[in-house]
Amino acid sequence: MKNISPGLIASRRAALLRLPAVPALAALWPALPAAAQVPEPVFGTPGKDSGWIPTPAGMVEAMLEMAGISSQDTVVDLGSGDGRIPILAAKRYGARGLGIEYNPDLVKYSISVAEREGLSERVKFIQGDIFATDFSHATVVTLFMPPAFNLKVRPQLLAMKPGTRVVSFNFDMGDWPPDESVYVNDQRGMLWRVPTSVAGLWRLNFTDAGTNRDSPPHVLRVSQRFQKIEGDMTIAGERLALWDIRFEVDRLRFTVLRNTGRLQRIDFDCRRSGTALEGIMQASGEPARRWTATL
Ligand SMILES: C[S@@+](CC[C@H](N)C(=O)[O-])C[C@H]1O[C@@H](n2cnc3c(N)ncnc32)[C@H](O)[C@@H]1O
Repeated sequence: MKNISPGLIASRRAALLRLPAVPALAALWPALPAAAQVPEPVFGTPGKDSGWIPTPAGMVEAMLEMAGISSQDTVVDLGSGDGRIPILAAKRYGARGLGIEYNPDLVKYSISVAEREGLSERVKFIQGDIFATDFSHATVVTLFMPPAFNLKVRPQLLAMKPGTRVVSFNFDMGDWPPDESVYVNDQRGMLWRVPTSVAGLWRLNFTDAGTNRDSPPHVLRVSQRFQKIEGDMTIAGERLALWDIRFEVDRLRFTVLRNTGRLQRIDFDCRRSGTALEGIMQASGEPARRWTATL
């Protein structure tokens, strides 16, 4: 890293990301060891949708930890800068890494660091525009980009395989709230898990032998905004609120309370499977029943 004063770094950072300067951040940027024969990147090097400002090393570690990276993951950094995120994901967790970076000098530098670390097989860098590069195979997407970029890339992220983790430093995803956050030196890293869609009007079909005939109609109405679920369950024409709703990626759990002379608690636990919902229903004092539902 070139010898740049913290004040200059903070003001350049503010200009690049259109944020108030946070001088304390400058102290967190680590010096990467020099890569052989490739000039070290200069803070503020231009890119396309933003210039280069690295995520602080401690935050990179915390974000990868929060994402639960393993050797099964493919970690793609959108705008990979000096390559630190895919390289650490491969080095520490044995993951595959890919960096997509617009600036060719940063790509050269990243490749040289990966080579020096003996990680060239596991970590690749592509010079190009994020919006012209396919990253749909990623199991984890990382980014440190301005808010407008996050909103622009959000539809692509939401279309990824359910369960894909998205990790962003400092900037959120608008009204898509994060599932988890981590704080390092007052800076925030955020994690989202791409949710599947469970929205719609689902008619339950009990699949235990013989039981469907004896069951009143059960219709589940689900409305969904990202990972936020609302809805109700109509049983035998009576509309009941969903209580204690829990939804994560493709698993939906909730409770309904039904008055059948006594207040009966009924727990539902289901997953999206192809075009169906598949689950169990457990009414208090009764055996659990299996069901599937279609739209
Ligand atoms: C703020 S830096 C973050 C670098 C790295 N992800 C990190 O967290 O340390 C953003 C990087 O994205 C690159 N970039 C900006 N717009 C891009 C685009 N449309 N396609 C590819 N890279 C882009 C910039 O050159 C810069 O290196």
